[in-house]
Formats: sequence, C-alpha cells, structure tokens
Amino acid sequence: MTRSPDHPWWRDAVVYQVYPRSFQDTDADGEGDLRGIARRLGHIRDLGADALWLSPVYPSPMADGGYDVAGYEDIDPRFGTLADADALIAAAHEHGLRLLMDLVPCHTSIEHSWFTQHPGRYVWSDRDGPQNNWIASFGGAAWSRDPGSGRWYLHSFYPEQPDLDWRNPDVPDAVAAALRFWRARGVDGFRLDAIDRLLKDPGLRDDPPATSPPVLPEHADAGTLEHLHSRNAPDIGLALGALREAVGDDTLLVGEVYLPAAQLAPYLEHVDCAFAFELLHAPWEADAFRNAITAALDPAGAAGRIAWVLSNHDFPRLPDRYGARNTRAAALLALTLPGAVFVYQGDEIGMADGPGGDPPQDRAGRDPHRHPMRWEDDAPHGGFTNADARPWLPAIEVDGGGVAQQAADPDSVLSLYRDLIAARPALRDGLTFLDDIADGVLAFRRGDDHVVALNMGDAPAPVPPAGTIVRATHGTRHRAGGPAPAELAPGEGFVAAYAS
Ligand code: NOJ
Repeated sequence: MTRSPDHPWWRDAVVYQVYPRSFQDTDADGEGDLRGIARRLGHIRDLGADALWLSPVYPSPMADGGYDVAGYEDIDPRFGTLADADALIAAAHEHGLRLLMDLVPCHTSIEHSWFTQHPGRYVWSDRDGPQNNWIASFGGAAWSRDPGSGRWYLHSFYPEQPDLDWRNPDVPDAVAAALRFWRARGVDGFRLDAIDRLLKDPGLRDDPPATSPPVLPEHADAGTLEHLHSRNAPDIGLALGALREAVGDDTLLVGEVYLPAAQLAPYLEHVDCAFAFELLHAPWEADAFRNAITAALDPAGAAGRIAWVLSNHDFPRLPDRYGARNTRAAALLALTLPGAVFVYQGDEIGMADGPGGDPPQDRAGRDPHRHPMRWEDDAPHGGFTNADARPWLPAIEVDGGGVAQQAADPDSVLSLYRDLIAARPALRDGLTFLDDIADGVLAFRRGDDHVVALNMGDAPAPVPPAGTIVRATHGTRHRAGGPAPAELAPGEGFVAAYAS
C-alpha cells in the first residue's frame, strides 16, 4: 500500500478487529490468548486485511471485558505474557500486517494501583455524595463511594472503572508513558477508547435535561440528560495533544468518539481518523444510510479521515441488526466506501449473535456479540479450544460453516469478503451518489469507472446501468465478469466497472 504524507498506509486500510478472549485458545483455559492470535494470523492476511486491532489484553479483573485496565504496561496472564506480545507483534509484521493496541485513557480499573497510590489522578466529589447529576453510560449515577477512603469518585462507565482526571498533568504523563512503552515494542498504532469522555467541565456542573433524543443511542437512563458538561469538553485538544505528542506523527491513532460526525472536527485535529457511528446505528434503509455516509464525509477536514465500522464487540451482529438476508449487502457497502474500514472478527463468515452467558459475563448484555470464532465445523468447539476445555462463552454454529468450510466455497460470505477486499485498490477516488434510482436502492459511483448498487428494500428494484460485474453479493446469480443486471432482488448488490 502507498506510503506518503498525503496517502498514509491506513488511508484505505482494512483493519480486522480481534476480540482476544474469543479468537483462539491455545492453553485450554477456555479463553483466547496471544499465542492463538499468532497462530491465526494467516486467516487475517488471507482475508486481505492490512492491520489488526486487539481489544484490550492488559491485566484486568474483567468487569468490562478488559476495558477496566489494572496495568497499562503488561499482559493479563489469561492472554499470555509480554514475551508473547513481542512474538505476536513480530509475527504480525512478518505476515505484512500492522498491529494496533487498544488504549483506554478515560478510566482505569478500580483495582489499578493508581487508585490507592495516586488518588489525585482520579476525579473526586468534594461532597459526601455525588458532586453532580451525571449519569453513567451504562445507566445509574456516575458517582460511587470508595469503600476505602469513603470519598465519592466519578465513573463514566461501570463503578469498577473510575475516571482519570485529565486536568491533572500527572495523568497525561502517566498514560503517555504507556503509549511509548508499546510503541517501543513495535506496535503501529492505537485505537483510543471513549475519548469523548476524556475531559469534562472543570467545574463539574450539572448536565441539563435532554430536550431531544440523542443522535446516537444511549442507555435509556443516560439519554435523559444532555451530556453538555460530562463529555466532549471544548478544550479536548489539551488531552489529545498530549497523546499525539507521546507517539509522534507516524503512529496511527484511531478515535472512538461516540458523537455524531458533525462534532468530530476537534478530535480529528489530533487523531488520524475516527469511527463513524451514525452509519453503525443507521436503520437498514437507503435514505438513512445515504444520510449517514454524507454526514461522515461532510465535516470540514473529515473527508478521508473516517473509519467505517458496521459492527464491533458492543453491538448486535450484522444478521441480527439488518436481517440475515442483508448481511452480504452490508459487507459490500462497508468495503466499497472511501477510506479505512474496520471488520469485526466473525463478520467475515456472517456470524450472528449467540445466547447471553450463563452466568452473564457482561452486565450491559453484550455477551451475545462476543462468542468464540468459528474456525472449523468438524473440530470440537468449532476449533476455538480443546475438546475438554469449557469456552467462556459457548462456541456457536454459523450458517454457511466455519472458516475452513467457507474458504472452500467460492460463494461463501468469506469468499465475498476476500474478493471485495481484493477489489478495493481499484476504488480509490471519491464517492458520488446516483439519485432517484428506485425506492430502497442505494447506488453510488466510485471514481469515473465503478458503480456500487444495493437493494435495501423489500421488493425487486431496478438499478442504474453499470458495465461489468467485479463482484456481486450473490456470485452464483451475478457472476464476476458478466454484465451487471438491470434489477436486484432484496439483499442483493454489486460493484461493477465500465470498460475504460
Ligand atoms: C467502548 C468499548 O468499546 C466498550 O466495550 C467499553 O465498555 C467502553 N468503551 C468503556 O471502556
């Protein structure tokens, strides 16, 4: 892939999200590990991805699936050792893959030694009770009493995740040290967790009541307030500038900013790109998708700086949100938009949600989206772990089979992902929507010579004339190299090229 200041490696990259606990177990404890990821790098390379992002693998009591970090510069024993991390980074590079870690700068685990040894690094109430009316992202008051000191601390997420005080200069220094630690070990970049929560109002003022529903879905409770003071501080650049300074310009920083695209500009001054969550939350309707894409491409400076994402470990999987019929068209869309795209493990084989954990592992109900990867239908637990091990969440079956089965089938979802990713280099320039095609049809031109069309409606619909199929969602019906059809059934789509 091209490397230049105008076109850095990540600009059109496909980044594969590994949820380490559910990827590949090698020590039969029922949880995935770093050695397992190293063993499966060939799958990520064969998919055609440019990089992988690991959800957190740091020491953690797992109150929030690892997003409760008890030490930034180490590996949780369940995932392996620092030596395993070094080996994985080296192996990824040998596979031609870059590796991104997940950095969680907004909060630590309550079990992090900082909480007792450096209490000044956290946000405390000066009252015997909550300082204000803020509500945590998962619901309930954002303040809890520390049984040790009896004081009340702020937590934007679970009570086990006390918020760091980014207005105390000690905090940027300490987190910057962690970034440099991993950078020195060869990591190529970081996905920055929840950075819209990093800085809050210095006066910790009450949030006002919400006057309109939030643009992005919130926990029912959290949505009753407008997060005017509890997040998205106007001087966010103070904190983000420190993160950027710690790593320099050649390290990819991807922002998880849970805000509408129109509010991303101050973040994009310091991070390279940010996820477009309006698209992830858009209902499966052509107009809604078109609006979400336009919003993400529009804001000043954001063009080409958007990381497209339709799915991750926090939300229902694609067949559950869009309907099984539309899963392939969703992949077609995400992989043909301009800019970087993130693919969540399992999406490339069309995985659906599984049951909740028994007992539940995540109190916010996200277990169903985190089941083990399905590698091989004929192996115990789908190849995730040994026969006599008990996976932390049960291995579930996948329509169309595991990776091994789908790799052998040219019309599988996996083959669709591989072919679409292979076709991406031809799609580099611009995006222009094609208007007034038919109800439910989303169609756009990429550059002068490619057309993408999909039928998001419930009835067969005409699509714009478009030369030769490069790849269709249903390759047996619309063969690559054949003429683009004049009509698509619901859930069908294609990318096609005009002869030049
Ligand atoms: C976003 C992460 O994706 C999610 O899993 C986590 O619960 C929150 N941030 C809090 O760290």
